[in-house]
Amino acid sequence: MTFQLAGNGPKIYEEVMVPLWFGRWAEALVEQASLGTSERVLDVACGTGVTTRLVKSKVGPSGKVDGLDINAPMLAKAKDLAGDLDIHWIESDVCGSGLPSESYDVILSQHGYHYFPEKPKALNEFLRLLVPGGRLAFSIWDGHSPYTEALCAAVAHHISPEIAEKQRSQRQTPSAEEVKQQVGNQGFSDVAVQRQELMIDVPLAPKFVPMHLASMPIAGAFLALEEDAQNALVQEVEEELDEFVVGDRLVYPDAVNVVKGRK
Ligand SMILES: C[S@@+](CC[C@H](N)C(=O)[O-])C[C@H]1O[C@@H](n2cnc3c(N)ncnc32)[C@H](O)[C@@H]1O
Repeated sequence: MTFQLAGNGPKIYEEVMVPLWFGRWAEALVEQASLGTSERVLDVACGTGVTTRLVKSKVGPSGKVDGLDINAPMLAKAKDLAGDLDIHWIESDVCGSGLPSESYDVILSQHGYHYFPEKPKALNEFLRLLVPGGRLAFSIWDGHSPYTEALCAAVAHHISPEIAEKQRSQRQTPSAEEVKQQVGNQGFSDVAVQRQELMIDVPLAPKFVPMHLASMPIAGAFLALEEDAQNALVQEVEEELDEFVVGDRLVYPDAVNVVKGRK
């Protein structure tokens, strides 16, 4: 499974998905990390930097904040958005940064862990980078939401089962119990997983689905459909989510698991 955006993808991701989804989860994750001023923090798989910027506001000018991501276009957007904020951006695979050992008090990651191809190796790298007693906190989806279920079904019907599988894989995350074991097995202590649920509030399907898909790796497959097929896909999502319509918004529950551990 990958999450690689190019072209307009990072711009749309930041302008559409960050305010509606990722910004809200970033606040919830950063709160869980209980950051103090002056701490040194690494945000892994930082994307366009929504969590990284929030972290900087918590640790203050004396804190050191680095954002790491494998995707150069996402990092370019992150740099642009950070403006004068003193954040250092690192283009690297999670395991390949070569950063000095024991450089960070806290490692955070939002919606990145399930993309890492070698999870034990990534967790070992976090242990190497953290100071003794350092904290790890990362979030992953708790499976699908009613919206993503409806979307994947409609993609299967109107694009193809293969493309739907690609979309579905964005939410293929380990369960709370599995991830707790994975983190504990690598040697973290005080490992805990907490489920967090939010009511997500987005525009109605005819407006939201095309915007959302434009920010996903399968954007090209949706745009390649004839207009009638695009409309039919959107209509299927709309009908499926009828019970979540509140005025001119779609309001539905979604959840993440926040995983914490200590070196
Ligand atoms: C869904 S985005 C989340 C971005 C950001 N944390 C946020 O909450 O908006 C997933 C990010 O993981 C990054 N990523 C995926 N695999 C990675 C890897 N092996 N090493 C570093 N970053 C990776 C992608 O480039 C992408 O920016």
